[in-house]
Amino acid sequence: MTRILGIETSCDETAIGVVEDGTRILSSAIASSQHLHSLYGGVIPDIAGRIHVERIWQVLEEALDQAKCQPQDLDAIAVTYGPGLPGALLIGLAFAKGLALSLKRPLLGVDHLAAHLYAARMHNPELEPPYLGLIVSGGHTILCGVHTEFRFEVLGETKDDAIGEAFDKVARLLGLGYPGGPVIDRLSEEGERAAIPFPRATAKESYDFSFSGLKTAVYNHVRHLTKRVPISSAPHADEATASRRAEPRAAGQAWLDHRDIANIAASFQEAAVEMVVSKTLKACHRTGTHQLAIGGGVAANRRLRERLTEEASTRGIRVVCPPPSLCMDNGPMVAGWGFELLRKGRGAPLTLSIDPNLRLN
Ligand code: KG4
Ligand code: ZN
Repeated sequence: MTRILGIETSCDETAIGVVEDGTRILSSAIASSQHLHSLYGGVIPDIAGRIHVERIWQVLEEALDQAKCQPQDLDAIAVTYGPGLPGALLIGLAFAKGLALSLKRPLLGVDHLAAHLYAARMHNPELEPPYLGLIVSGGHTILCGVHTEFRFEVLGETKDDAIGEAFDKVARLLGLGYPGGPVIDRLSEEGERAAIPFPRATAKESYDFSFSGLKTAVYNHVRHLTKRVPISSAPHADEATASRRAEPRAAGQAWLDHRDIANIAASFQEAAVEMVVSKTLKACHRTGTHQLAIGGGVAANRRLRERLTEEASTRGIRVVCPPPSLCMDNGPMVAGWGFELLRKGRGAPLTLSIDPNLRLN
């Protein structure tokens, strides 16, 4: 029985978990600074770093308490060393090195993206390579082959914004705060998916993605609407509408009513989801793959999960969608991937540095 502590501080979550033998999650503790970034519409690296420093010890204690274990019960310390925000990564790595050194346990340097993909296996331990992996997060949109022994082969990635970034930027434009994905996901239920025919970028031959055209189309649509229908003359500008009025920085929000916002959210989400679903299924078809695993914060999106599952089932493809708690940044996924590294004897030296631009390999 091998117990690994996983530490994740690559962005705005301070997350630590304990995992036994790679898949049995004993604890998952998390402190988020998202509510602070929400004031600015995006992650402020200095704030993320300060909160990591302030909260990491408390998060460790909670993770050990939940797992009912003592530091001495741990067999190794796994930590995300990239990709991510440099200052945020440094705090997790320094903390992990301190623990590894004082407990005399191996240090394991974890690639955040490999960990996101490994979350699917933690949810479904029967999932064995080869399969196709889809990572959809705030910083990445990647389609990759997962080969035997968990070797990754990137097939395609975004050429501009990551899908989560597009959700966050559209939410900001609509004055919905940060992070935007969960709000757009919820609000889309109240809107019509076909209300606005936003464009779907399709580079037929490649597996690469592009979301900036869609984002610009949403921006132009909002500008168009706001010129035409100022709220003061809108026919149904009632209490509910007024309560959704803009904070000062949200372009045009003051002129959109709740129905407009819900329709834009639903139509944007539908376009973004369709782009990902069609590319992913094409990759499954062309590579002859019948297993698909998804990971990353946007993998929590209900419409994406629904559409992928629907389309995959008609083609005999099995989709493994981890629960939302394992899609978002979390400690257990770091410990899980750390277990694979330990098994392969791939411990890291105490001189390990962060790699903010680490590429999946
Ligand atoms: O994986 P993650 O927690 O952090 C990164 O590695 O980036 O992903 C965060 C991203 C944010 O952009 C957030 O808006 C998005 O995941 N997200 C969602 C949903 N929940 C989180 N996007 C769409 N629908 C959701 N339900
Ligand atoms: Zn992530």
